[in-house]
Amino acid sequence: MIPFNKPYYCDKGIHYIKEVLDRGKVGADGYFTKKCKNFLEKRLRTNNILLTTSCTHALEMAFRLINLEKNQEVIMPSYTFPSTSNCVLMNNGKVVFTEINHNDLCIDADKIEEKITDKTKAIIVVHYGGNACDMDKIMSIANRYDLYVIEDAAQGLFSTYKGKELGTIGHFGCYSFHETKNISSGEGGAISINFDDDDLIKRAEYMRQKGTNRIDFELGQVEFYQWVDIGSSYCPSEILMAYLYSQLENSYDIHVRRLEIFNGYVNLFESLKSKKIINYAIGNQYGAFNAHIFYVIFEQEKDALVFANRLKDEGIIAYTHLIPLHLSRMGLQMGYREDDFPFEKQLYKRLIRLPLYADMTDIELCRVQEVIQEIIEKLN
Ligand SMILES: Cc1ncc(COP(=O)(O)O)c(C=O)c1O
Repeated sequence: MIPFNKPYYCDKGIHYIKEVLDRGKVGADGYFTKKCKNFLEKRLRTNNILLTTSCTHALEMAFRLINLEKNQEVIMPSYTFPSTSNCVLMNNGKVVFTEINHNDLCIDADKIEEKITDKTKAIIVVHYGGNACDMDKIMSIANRYDLYVIEDAAQGLFSTYKGKELGTIGHFGCYSFHETKNISSGEGGAISINFDDDDLIKRAEYMRQKGTNRIDFELGQVEFYQWVDIGSSYCPSEILMAYLYSQLENSYDIHVRRLEIFNGYVNLFESLKSKKIINYAIGNQYGAFNAHIFYVIFEQEKDALVFANRLKDEGIIAYTHLIPLHLSRMGLQMGYREDDFPFEKQLYKRLIRLPLYADMTDIELCRVQEVIQEIIEKLN
């Protein structure tokens, strides 16, 4: 069987986890959390990365940090994962969906301004599949209307926009290390706070440490630590961070291999020139690309279904992706109608993602390519 995704295996991960146990500190914010933080800050050229238990939690933190108030509005694409909108609702805000571009499936920057009202507080952009959103346009709108920009870079780690790392351009960037991501600790995430505000960064530290000033205690600045703010438990354990660090150390190799596989798919679909296919991933138009997802979009839903099922018959696992939030049960309860965003509505049943993981062998890649060629030739 060729799975859709496989955790990247490296011996160092096991070795580092053993080191955590030997050190005797398995809780939060120890040796490996610091190593991951330093690595990410250096690699992403940013000053304030805090490791979290997930991207979902990083997004929740961002909205609490900007003091989102009841019914304040946040504009975001409907074509995203529920965490992008949950973080707004959990902070009592109101979600306002908008459209995506047809070519790169990122938020359509030209459709943002018409959604802005006097209640708008922020925009969330989602760098879909490692494709960068048009950050110049988005930041210029945000500056004009005095809005926060939160980058949901769950899928965007190590892609860039005009030389800048995704997640470091808006006011906050949120990353995921979930098992489906290029760099993973099973579950995990990080928030990048992209402006210098020492008080806010302190608040973020307290927030992730259950509302306590434990960090000050660990730095020897207070004799006892205590409850100082509203907070939650957003710190990952050292065991996860040890595993994550081993992946970060190998991130260059992971990246190179993913890109090879991605390009293998691009070359195949270029040569197939099928009329049944209206689009497929070609990479990030604005800079470096992390090769997170290779997707192919069929003109007809039925062809997408045949394609995925035929692959499955051959032991190759390919998946559709996000059900647009406006037509999910929650979205409909919020008052959205299925036809509000017709492109998104038909996209999710026509988009198929292909297997892509760093440990994929050349033999596996060739097999997937051959099977795809056969299926598409028959479909044509
Ligand atoms: C766009 C987007 N945002 C947020 C998340 C949530 O990430 P996590 O699982 O780390 O909470 C995901 C997860 O796949 C995602 O794709």
